[in-house]
Amino acid sequence: MTAFPAPQRYDGAPFRRCGRSGLMLPPIALGLWQNFGGVDAYETGRAVVRRAFDRGVTHFDLANNYGPPPGSAEEGFGRMLADDLRPYRDELVIATKAGHAMWPGPYGDWGSRKYLVASLDQSLRRMGIDYVDIFYHHRPDPDTPLEETMAALAHVVRQGKALHVGLSKYPPERAREAAALLRQMGTPCLIHQFRYSMLERAPEDGWLDTAAAEGMGIAAFSPLAQGLLTDKYLDGVPGDARMARGGSLPPDRLTAALRDSLRRLAAIAHGGGRSLAQLALVWLLRDPRVTTLLVGARAVAQIDDTLAALHKPTLTAEDERAIAAVLGAP
Ligand SMILES: NC(=O)c1ccc[n+]([C@@H]2O[C@H](COP(=O)([O-])OP(=O)(O)OC[C@H]3O[C@@H](n4cnc5c(N)ncnc54)[C@H](OP(=O)(O)O)[C@@H]3O)[C@@H](O)[C@H]2O)c1
Repeated sequence: MTAFPAPQRYDGAPFRRCGRSGLMLPPIALGLWQNFGGVDAYETGRAVVRRAFDRGVTHFDLANNYGPPPGSAEEGFGRMLADDLRPYRDELVIATKAGHAMWPGPYGDWGSRKYLVASLDQSLRRMGIDYVDIFYHHRPDPDTPLEETMAALAHVVRQGKALHVGLSKYPPERAREAAALLRQMGTPCLIHQFRYSMLERAPEDGWLDTAAAEGMGIAAFSPLAQGLLTDKYLDGVPGDARMARGGSLPPDRLTAALRDSLRRLAAIAHGGGRSLAQLALVWLLRDPRVTTLLVGARAVAQIDDTLAALHKPTLTAEDERAIAAVLGAP
């Protein structure tokens, strides 16, 4: 039960309206793609989630396949709900997705009605909840008719298993078609999530405009470019960093030219009393179309550093010029 005066967790930056909807989201939300799987220490992830919530992060982003092993991030989050967060369910916005490979055979991947409906049932069981706030189609399916995938999303809303639906990684034209179908079906698309950061600016070519024109909110994922946009890679690759662990951030991504750019961005950040991570987040949040940034965190100190971005000054015109000089044209 929300006590009045409002608890300290709502002392942070103001929530943002998610497109043309009644849902407000915190400007920074926590994603559980990595660091929250069955192979990771439960208590570490639990501490990060608790700290995030205590500091105003009401939105948690999951997917059926997050782990490893796939499904284990949802199981772990279900345990956190049972241990800590269940009394606050009505203060939480929980998202999950289906669209990437999840189970063997043709019904555990892509965008069929069969896959989406079954997957959401599995996700609800793993998390021990009756409904999710947002159910996403995780990636476009080139073969399944878009009508079928969108009808599956509208169906789970009518079933009461999701309150809203979203798209992930849909190129602009496909996003427009999906939005039109969902509108016809009476389930407007709430939000579109895609990769967007200082180092990944492809969305500036139509993705942001389309989402905004269609009334969708925007969730920028990997806003720290998986950790590249932090102070950790300026002088090497720390042994415990994502790049050193192998997987989604290969070492050849860190070229000499990129390191030079990161150092120049870090100098701008530090000159303004910010960490590089904070600069990267403040830079994204200056666009009012961006509703929320889906960050990852491996430790409480990281989420603390990240959330402190919300209390840093906005960028000066001089900051903007200096950043543009490093980033160049999108
Ligand atoms: N729809 C999709 O297809 C899709 C795809 C990818 C992600 N997502 C969503 O986006 C979320 C975030 O993705 P991401 O983990 O790539 O986001 P990110 O915020 O760009 O990177 C997070 C990583 O950066 C490092 N880090 C974070 N804060 C730091 C700080 N303050 N100082 C130093 N290092 C810091 C940590 O890695 P180290 O281990 O190096 O410390 C952390 O795990 C996912 O969990 C998921 O919810 C969605």
